[in-house]
Amino acid sequence: MVMRTYDENTVIVFDTTLRDGEQSPGATLSSAEKLEIARQLSRLGVDVIEAGFPAASPDDLKAVQRIAREVGTPDGPTIAGLSRALEGDILAAWDGVREAAKPRIHTFLGTSPSHLAMLRIDKDEGLQRIREAVTLAKSLCVDVEFSPMDAGRTDTEYLIQACAVAVEAGATTLNIPDTVGYVMPTEWAETLEMLINETPGAGPGSGVIWSVHCHNDLGLATANTLAGLKKGVRQVEVTINGIGERAGNTSLEEVVMSIQTRKAYYGLRTNIDSTQIMKTSRMVRNYMGMPVQANKAIVGANAFAHESGIHQDGVLKNAETFEIMMPEDVGLTQSKLVLGKLSGRHALRVRLRELGYEIDGEELIEIFKRFKDLADVKKTVTDADLEALVADEAAQKPEDHFRLVDIQVACGTMGLPTATVKMINQDGEEFIVASVGTGPVDASYRAIDEIIQAPSVLLEFNVHSVTEGIDALGEVTVRISPENSNRTFGGYGADSDIIVSSVKAYVAALNRMISSLGIGDVAPEGEAATVGLTSTS
Ligand code: KIV
Ligand code: ZN
Repeated sequence: MVMRTYDENTVIVFDTTLRDGEQSPGATLSSAEKLEIARQLSRLGVDVIEAGFPAASPDDLKAVQRIAREVGTPDGPTIAGLSRALEGDILAAWDGVREAAKPRIHTFLGTSPSHLAMLRIDKDEGLQRIREAVTLAKSLCVDVEFSPMDAGRTDTEYLIQACAVAVEAGATTLNIPDTVGYVMPTEWAETLEMLINETPGAGPGSGVIWSVHCHNDLGLATANTLAGLKKGVRQVEVTINGIGERAGNTSLEEVVMSIQTRKAYYGLRTNIDSTQIMKTSRMVRNYMGMPVQANKAIVGANAFAHESGIHQDGVLKNAETFEIMMPEDVGLTQSKLVLGKLSGRHALRVRLRELGYEIDGEELIEIFKRFKDLADVKKTVTDADLEALVADEAAQKPEDHFRLVDIQVACGTMGLPTATVKMINQDGEEFIVASVGTGPVDASYRAIDEIIQAPSVLLEFNVHSVTEGIDALGEVTVRISPENSNRTFGGYGADSDIIVSSVKAYVAALNRMISSLGIGDVAPEGEAATVGLTSTS
């Protein structure tokens, strides 16, 4: 367990993966997945988890409440709920977080000219709304954070007034967002310096924590966040893998590893256990179906790979020649669990627990079976393999509308690629469809489309191997969008057969789409096929 300690050089890590991150196109999570990610964020050592936006929907509220109850323990992180500066939102946010040992209400109001115009209020009315919102939040919760949204395009004088009003009304954290990713590091540093020194009641020694929340539209989110730290900012709002609205938010791993790697330059510390970074990154990637680009700093597949001969030679002689961090620092280990046919369920359970997964009962039986099958075909089963199996199991849920039962494909240079897919729906009805396509994945997806009849467009398809070697597990992430809508849904699948992974990922994304939009009713019996369909129930 992480021991969180604080002094004037501690940077508070406020993670908004479950709120701003979940606003990434296609990143919808179930409440069980949110809880699992929140548990992992707690193990990672984040100080604050922004668990969601409770006023957004009853499901969001329930997910925040569950995280507050189960992860917001006295030795765990603060649990924050987001709210607009509206009474209903603030009450919902409090309803969401009240059961946490350390609850926080985070309320915001747009302060830039375009945001005030959108709200149809002038600057004075804006200040009045901030006062009322923070006063109400403070009457419910000791810990209140205020954000002047779109601060990056708000004049500094008005920002100072807005922050002063928020502090006077009881805000203890002032978070300055660059909502549209517009600012440049040096100008942002100057703005923050001015705010920190000139906001009445919020200067150095006042006890108020200054925070930044940057978006990455110009690729400067990390640089802007770090620029703030040099000026006295002591809270950073970040997401795992940098996911978030549009180009995303500041990435947790980049900021934390900058502080850690350049300790002498910043003179700061965090409570993050950096060895948990890779695991958290993989979990978020898998659950959200959002691939991480190979050259992404810290967590990309190539982040610690050395290709050129000169680099390889240098690293072999002395890792420091070309490496500023050790792969182990971020939890990239070569640890291998060698379990074969004779290995027991207990050993697997213990290793999974060490990896941070509490898995019991039916789920353990299922993962054990998959593990044995994998151990049969693969000489060594690594931690990354186990994580992929767990993620794959988590991606197929009991409440899914459709489940894959079997798949068989025929492909190659002779004849048309053909797939036969057998699926079962929630009512236990079985469907078998055979279809042809341009390749085995296309043929399989066509067969699934005929069964599920939820028209969608495949936006993204990524396949990647979990480990090196020809016998590796293949992971697939897909993103789909319903026809006539710009909402997107992600899915993940892992198997030693990449056609099976591809199909699982697609079915997972379709199930998400159906759960969320309520479309894709089962095709009436007899209607579900044009090529060799049999409904066997
Ligand atoms: O980007 C933004 O301004 C936000 C606020 C709600 C903090 O996400
Ligand atoms: Zn944001």
